[in-house]
Amino acid sequence: MASTAPAPAIDLLAPASFASGQPHDQFAWLREHDPVHWHPEGDEDRGFWAVTRYADVKAVGRDAGTYSSVPSIMIPDGAALDAGDHQMMLTMDPPRHTAYRRLVAPEFIPRAARAMRPRIDELARRIVDGAVERGGTCDLVADVAGLMPSYVIADMLGIPHEDGVALYELTEAIHAAPESQAPGAGMAAILQMFNYAREVWEQRRAEPADDLATTIAFAQVDGDELDLIDFNLFFLLLVDAGGDTTRNLVAGGMDALFAHPDQRAWLAADLDGRLATAVEELLRWVSPVVYMRRTATSDTTLAGTAVAAGDKVVMYYGSANRDPEAFGPTADQLDLARTPNEHVAFGGGGPHFCLGAHIARAEIHALLRELLTRLPDLSPAGPTEWLPSTFISGPKHLPVRLAR
Ligand code: HEM
Repeated sequence: MASTAPAPAIDLLAPASFASGQPHDQFAWLREHDPVHWHPEGDEDRGFWAVTRYADVKAVGRDAGTYSSVPSIMIPDGAALDAGDHQMMLTMDPPRHTAYRRLVAPEFIPRAARAMRPRIDELARRIVDGAVERGGTCDLVADVAGLMPSYVIADMLGIPHEDGVALYELTEAIHAAPESQAPGAGMAAILQMFNYAREVWEQRRAEPADDLATTIAFAQVDGDELDLIDFNLFFLLLVDAGGDTTRNLVAGGMDALFAHPDQRAWLAADLDGRLATAVEELLRWVSPVVYMRRTATSDTTLAGTAVAAGDKVVMYYGSANRDPEAFGPTADQLDLARTPNEHVAFGGGGPHFCLGAHIARAEIHALLRELLTRLPDLSPAGPTEWLPSTFISGPKHLPVRLAR
């Protein structure tokens, strides 16, 4: 039955729409009334198609021939890092994308992620130890959740943990809206990141080690060795992609558990038996990546709407993950026991499907397990502040009290 609720103002480019999480009222209206919605972007002439239904998000993500990742997966064209004819794997199409992804894929497959679990469990223990030692209150985002992905990618690349944390801070400056920081700060952060990456490249080329940085430093595509710019772009992508996504899932997941004490109690009653299923529901619920953009390569039709070659087409994962057509009448409820749960938090299953999904799950599982076991009285110590971002969703600050 069509709802009679008044239409909310639709503005998916306004940080204010994301000020307290994703704009689910706007998404619900769009799914029901205008699932492939022409959304203005800046001036009158520009715009993009906002795709909000689960089936359409999957269809776009899986059809890289019609919906290209070149030149950018962000809505503004200028947001892509300009590195001449070099690109990040995330903004390549097959077959080039396939060749680049193949270089690093063995480090991310389920077997590799399983082998990393004891180390990830140990990191989770250490991170929660740190919080417990400090005692009192802390910021779950910066002091707990954010450390795990920085440590894990540092381990994988073979660099010190402190450097992983510092590099991650640089990615935040790279992504921050220019008006939110000092002029030139974004470019300075890119240069610092690339200077660091160059040192790693030089060290590994001189003295190969058993790590992912060495794999990339010696990788070849079609018989040609990758160059320093390729290495830098890979390095930036790896530091970046798993950082705030995983952090936001853990912090956003805890925020959801605070808001749903009955669900938290259900989970705590059999943590080991229920956590894996619960993590999938928290991924669906939080959906840390708000969207990925594609660009139509030819005139086409999406769910009955004509899309022209060159149009931007934007997949809203957070909306797809609340689509009642896919998740039934309880789509807008948190149900940690939900199965099946074919959410699209890691993408809709196309060629760019999150490379780090298995590692991310291991990180999230380990940290939530440690938090919920060691700190059963963990509770909010103030209001959650959300990231004012239209691209990545999650708490910016989540003050917590460690014990009653
Ligand atoms: C909760 C945590 C995470 C979420 C929600 C997430 C989500 C995503 C999404 C939505 C995409 C794009 C999918 C598409 O376009 O079809 C993606 C790509 C990617 N992710 Fe993740 N991610 C997470 C954690 C990680 C981690 C921990 C790593 C690395 C250790 C990682 C590495 C990557 C890479 C390298 C890509 C690009 C893949 C490609 O272009 O082929 N991600 N991720």
